[in-house]
Amino acid sequence: MGDESNEFHREVVRPKVTELLSPNPADYILDIACGNGNYSSYLAQRGASVVAFDYSKKCEFCVADATDRKGILELKRNRAFTKAVSNMAIMDITDIEPLLMAVYELLQESGIFVFATQHPCFVTLTEKYMTPHSYYDIAIEGQPKEQIYYHRSIQDIFNLCFRAGFVIDGFYEECFKTNKEIPMVMIVRLKKVKRDSLK
Ligand SMILES: C[S@@+](CC[C@H](N)C(=O)[O-])C[C@H]1O[C@@H](n2cnc3c(N)ncnc32)[C@H](O)[C@@H]1O
Repeated sequence: MGDESNEFHREVVRPKVTELLSPNPADYILDIACGNGNYSSYLAQRGASVVAFDYSKKCEFCVADATDRKGILELKRNRAFTKAVSNMAIMDITDIEPLLMAVYELLQESGIFVFATQHPCFVTLTEKYMTPHSYYDIAIEGQPKEQIYYHRSIQDIFNLCFRAGFVIDGFYEECFKTNKEIPMVMIVRLKKVKRDSLK
């Protein structure tokens, strides 16, 4: 991905994620499944303090598994995170419920979690939409082997977010290059609220 990431990330993911995240020097941000950490560095350049993790040991930051709620909670330091972000990883993660629960606990009151993920309506190799399932594909041309993707419908993703104690207060669907009718990515901003208020 390089320090500046690739064109897709720069044009489709980063602008709206950054708009919804609105990073500032007072922020303490958790970057989930950070990959090579190029977005973490970008946030740090904008003055935010950042803790970043990935389960790839090549990541220079922390190593944690996003499906392991306890492991994520161990990233807790002496202050709550103001924000969390996850770029293009939700569709790579086997089970996102432990992540949502842990992020809820790590965030300060009214903290926000912005994630960008493949648009499940338009980016898939299968005919199935409603039923959660997985399939193999490549992310970047030339990668040595296919990787697994986890398809979830939008209602399944959103209902897990609501169950964890979040409401949605920002949402974009972003297109790439010439096809301005088919969004490749959806970008969601969650806001932590009191779980009782969602009953
Ligand atoms: C498409 S990459 C995105 C990386 C980075 N966020 C970016 O936008 O450049 C997806 C990342 O999710 C990570 N990942 C997938 N499942 C994970 C898990 N269970 N725990 C931690 N990281 C995970 C992968 O190692 C990979 O770095």
